[in-house]
Amino acid sequence: ASRPRVLSGIQPTAGSFHLGNYLGAVRQWVALQETHDAFYMVVDLHAITVPQDPAALRANTRLAVAQLLAAGLDPDRCTLFVQSHVPEHAQLGWVMNCLTGFGEASRMTQFKDKSSKQGSDRTTVGLFTYPVLQVADILLYQANQVPVGEDQRQHIELTRDLAERFNSRLGETFTLPEPYILKETGKIYDLQDPSVKMSKSASTPKGLVNLLDDPKVTAKKVRSAVTDTDTVIRFDPVDKPGVSNLLSISSTLTGKPVAELEKEYEGKMYGALKTDLAEQMVEFVTPFRSRTQGYLDDPETLDSILAKGAEKARAVAAETLAQAYDRIGF
Ligand code: ADP
Ligand code: NA
Repeated sequence: ASRPRVLSGIQPTAGSFHLGNYLGAVRQWVALQETHDAFYMVVDLHAITVPQDPAALRANTRLAVAQLLAAGLDPDRCTLFVQSHVPEHAQLGWVMNCLTGFGEASRMTQFKDKSSKQGSDRTTVGLFTYPVLQVADILLYQANQVPVGEDQRQHIELTRDLAERFNSRLGETFTLPEPYILKETGKIYDLQDPSVKMSKSASTPKGLVNLLDDPKVTAKKVRSAVTDTDTVIRFDPVDKPGVSNLLSISSTLTGKPVAELEKEYEGKMYGALKTDLAEQMVEFVTPFRSRTQGYLDDPETLDSILAKGAEKARAVAAETLAQAYDRIGF
């Protein structure tokens, strides 16, 4: 039997991935390449929903690819590509725009958040319809599952709605995808404000852990994470969001269940947990940074990986688009 298919993407805009990107999404991508027919892409079309400097965009796209390889993606086990290399994304994106209600798009909470921070004159129509392009991204590959963080759940629901709408109006064409979101790491919180998710756009510099930062800086951020005035190390996201966030992160990095960590830290102070987690982070990011640099230092290999990835992706995307165009009457 053929493997179920997964598709996911990450923006190249921030340069370094942050800990939320890694634990919420990329870590699952690496695991799923072993069991699924996996398609992963750097979404540069999504990046231009806000202004980009061309040289920086080009460099950050390669940097994102290097980080995905450093995280463990293997181009022999998955299809790794850059979104703009596959023109079918924009083509099906237009089709999906024409199926989406204006009110329906207006209900996307991530757009409301982002645009309210930017003001309406700086907000582009592209940012408004970016969830619809994402629908096309997913449907082109007939993905069964989409490994993402919790913040993407509403966009996966939109994907299912539009796939159903197209299928029922024009004939069975698209697979309805499910979100693949892990309970433990679906939402990693800001280290300084554990009431908000860690995010490249919303976090304070001290609350955002960038994987490519100097490990000393990262260790310091972890040691100065905001907790609470209690002293007990217990997993309780409602009353102890800061401590619970640190426990989730440590559990994932060490592979120890949260309950085991709670036992280990019985009678110990927050400082013990923070010191250990700072060390675990340093152990993780140090080789990650050098592997990333290694891929950047070998541009020919990177180019050839991306050329092969685009070719494999395009074969699938072109077939789906041709079917969709046929159903539409093109
Ligand atoms: P950001 O949300 O920082 O702008 P992206 O939009 O590029 O980053 O997100 C890439 C992936 O990382 C998505 O699957 C998203 O759901 C996931 N992600 C982002 N932030 C977090 C977080 N704080 N916790 C868990 N997953 C996250
Ligand atoms: Na996001």
